[in-house]
Amino acid sequence: MQEPISVGIVGLGYWGPNLVRNFSAATTTRVAWLCDVNSTRLADIGEQFPAATRTVRYEEMLAAPEVQAVAIAAPVAAHHRLARAALLAGKHVLVEKPLAASVAEAVELVELAKRVDRVLLVDHIFLYSPAVRKMAELVLGGEVGDLLFVDSVRINLGLFQHDVNVVWDLAPHDLSIIDYLIDRPPRSIVAVGASHAETGQESVAYLHLDYGDNLLASVHVNWLSPVKVRHFLLGGSRRSLLYDELDISERLKVYDRGIDVSKDVDGIRQVLVSYRSGDVVSPRLDGTEPLRYLVEHFADCVRNSTQPISGGEQGLRIVRILEAAQRSLSQGGARVPV
Ligand SMILES: NC(=O)c1ccc[n+]([C@@H]2O[C@H](COP(=O)([O-])OP(=O)(O)OC[C@H]3O[C@@H](n4cnc5c(N)ncnc54)[C@H](O)[C@@H]3O)[C@@H](O)[C@H]2O)c1
Repeated sequence: MQEPISVGIVGLGYWGPNLVRNFSAATTTRVAWLCDVNSTRLADIGEQFPAATRTVRYEEMLAAPEVQAVAIAAPVAAHHRLARAALLAGKHVLVEKPLAASVAEAVELVELAKRVDRVLLVDHIFLYSPAVRKMAELVLGGEVGDLLFVDSVRINLGLFQHDVNVVWDLAPHDLSIIDYLIDRPPRSIVAVGASHAETGQESVAYLHLDYGDNLLASVHVNWLSPVKVRHFLLGGSRRSLLYDELDISERLKVYDRGIDVSKDVDGIRQVLVSYRSGDVVSPRLDGTEPLRYLVEHFADCVRNSTQPISGGEQGLRIVRILEAAQRSLSQGGARVPV
């Protein structure tokens, strides 16, 4: 039995405690240090994990030799600085989504992680959800057929972030799922959005991505919706998949519905479209929390020096799309190459 990997966690606001809970519950990791500049927050979370050493000084945590890996759940604007310092201190790094606040920052982190030979994993949490794993299996296994469209809606009365808009906050989820399922980056993006609070940050946005070969994706993110919707619909020529994160009993549905296209008897002029209305199947999925899989995968990657499913390279691809979306937003919805 190997010793668990000692992890230091920085940022104990809304999301950080979920990392602490999962790193603490996993048998392959242990929470060695906790850090937050807010001493009240540090004390509140620290009380629940008394075995962990607490500090408001990040440098102190990085200097601790027993800390093998650092998990960063601070605001996006701080990701680059905190991740860079951790890598330079020889720690493996798990960083929250998005990897960084710009492509330049993300590139630097990916290159640094390679240079110092440390694991860099981005918390693209949905890649660890059994529903998304099943979707990937169905897509790769050819069951879905040719991919035709993605329609993803992620809306609710969301927590306003101070340093990023709704695109940088929520769209990394949808974009990382799409990146995982589709083997190529988008060619271009059109993004429109609107800001409704004093922050000046967009709180509602619509992204349209063109992947070439007639494959389009639409992502709608919104912090103002009174209803919570988490619909990820993937249309294929053979089957279509609906992933509804909120439908606990049937998170994934596989539809044998769509169109079949044939030519008329002459086979030249007329195209005939007929509708297929077959079964809807909901595959059995295990109910384990995705974050639990993620922390265990992180520990595996650290132990075996392997590349994470959601490594720095994927983080960089997502930041490239986010930056292109930002350019499109600021140009009033211009089409921007990715
Ligand atoms: N994976 C997910 O599903 C998910 C969900 C929510 C948030 N997040 C990500 O988690 C990160 C944090 O978001 P949040 O909503 O928890 O924010 P938050 O503002 O609630 O918490 C951030 C915490 O970091 C602390 N902090 C800030 N700068 C620090 C520093 N330099 N050193 C130490 N502590 C510092 C703050 O005091 C605060 O307690 C963001 O990157 C966000 O995108 C991920």
